[in-house]
Amino acid sequence: MGEIEAHESKLYSDFAPFYDKVFGKIFSSRLRRVIGDLHIPKGARVLELGAGTGTSFPAYPRHCEVVGIDVAPDMLARAQGKIKANGWSHLKVLEMDALNLEFPDDSFDYVMAFHVVTVVPDPVRMMEEAKRVCRPGGSIVVVNHFTSDFPLLGLLTETLDPVTRRLGWRTNLKLGPFIEATELEVEKAYKLSKLSLYTVLVGSNQKNGYHRV
Ligand SMILES: C[S@@+](CC[C@H](N)C(=O)[O-])C[C@H]1O[C@@H](n2cnc3c(N)ncnc32)[C@H](O)[C@@H]1O
Repeated sequence: MGEIEAHESKLYSDFAPFYDKVFGKIFSSRLRRVIGDLHIPKGARVLELGAGTGTSFPAYPRHCEVVGIDVAPDMLARAQGKIKANGWSHLKVLEMDALNLEFPDDSFDYVMAFHVVTVVPDPVRMMEEAKRVCRPGGSIVVVNHFTSDFPLLGLLTETLDPVTRRLGWRTNLKLGPFIEATELEVEKAYKLSKLSLYTVLVGSNQKNGYHRV
């Protein structure tokens, strides 16, 4: 994977007032399906990286404990507002950098990264942190747009990359090199519909000698 330019993640604080209006409904319904398909068991500890305004929050079952982290305080303020308005005692948010998590190793059963791997300056580092704080055999779930392998579409998204970077995300990340560089043990990779631009990856955290049999 090539060198990844650092970019101003706090840019998302500027997006906060209109983020839900632009992306909220689409992202929420996508994440409702992804999270529903996981059948998260009672008592599971869940970490969501780059949780933003909490578009995923309505989808989490109340029987699990969820921590959402993000670097943009204005995005988190909106997430916190939703937590309060809905009385979601199973959810909390913290300001934290996904590249330097302040949690001990093996703290979570699930680590989620929804629409965030193309936003952070170093997705490989973020995935290393995800693996560290996820317990052996836990699940790492990524939802993201990856550059198409179809030559024309791929060329178009790569051409758009300098523009979208200014807006806060990159479009030139390919799925194969991402999986290779992060060494994610993918159990399931799918799209929610044939034409969807987004890929869902469900990985099993294979570390400390843990291997699924
Ligand atoms: C496209 S938004 C996705 C938000 C949410 N996951 C969703 O699906 O609606 C990307 C989020 O990643 C956050 N972010 C960017 N860099 C980050 C970092 N280094 N650590 C944690 N969050 C980060 C941004 O502040 C923003 O809220």
